[in-house]
Amino acid sequence: MLVLGAGAGRLAYDVHMQTTARTTVALDFNPLLSIVADRVTRAETHRALRVPDRAARADAAVLRTLAAPAPARAGLVFVVADAHRPPFRHGAFDTVVTPWLVDILPGAVRRALRASQRAARRRRPLAQLRLA
Ligand SMILES: C[S@@+](CC[C@H](N)C(=O)[O-])C[C@H]1O[C@@H](n2cnc3c(N)ncnc32)[C@H](O)[C@@H]1O
Repeated sequence: MLVLGAGAGRLAYDVHMQTTARTTVALDFNPLLSIVADRVTRAETHRALRVPDRAARADAAVLRTLAAPAPARAGLVFVVADAHRPPFRHGAFDTVVTPWLVDILPGAVRRALRASQRAARRRRPLAQLRLA
């Protein structure tokens, strides 16, 4: 399974943990999100200060500790890349999910959809996935 625009990886983690997918690739072009997601799903924790949008005072920040409910099983992979040019051979995935991505790519929706269709066109076992 390929999750395009995976962000901090919550959906990719849930899908990977609740299905029998051998490999779930969570792709996002923001390396920071991918690094945090990778750490958190490997049973590490990540602490971040969250400042509410309208906070007038710096001390309104709240310290959050991010942690996954359980370490991800093997096969959850985080990849930093552009969803328009996913670095996989055509047909590498049997399922492509685009949670909250195509609707934030104005003018590029067709390209993004074409890229995900390319990635998913031919059904092949996920074991044959090759990362570029
Ligand atoms: C609105 S967020 C959604 C994040 C996550 N899927 C969710 O549902 O919470 C959009 C995500 O898409 C990523 N993104 C936007 N354009 C992208 C692109 N061209 N390639 C890869 N990721 C992209 C952003 O970095 C961000 O993490």
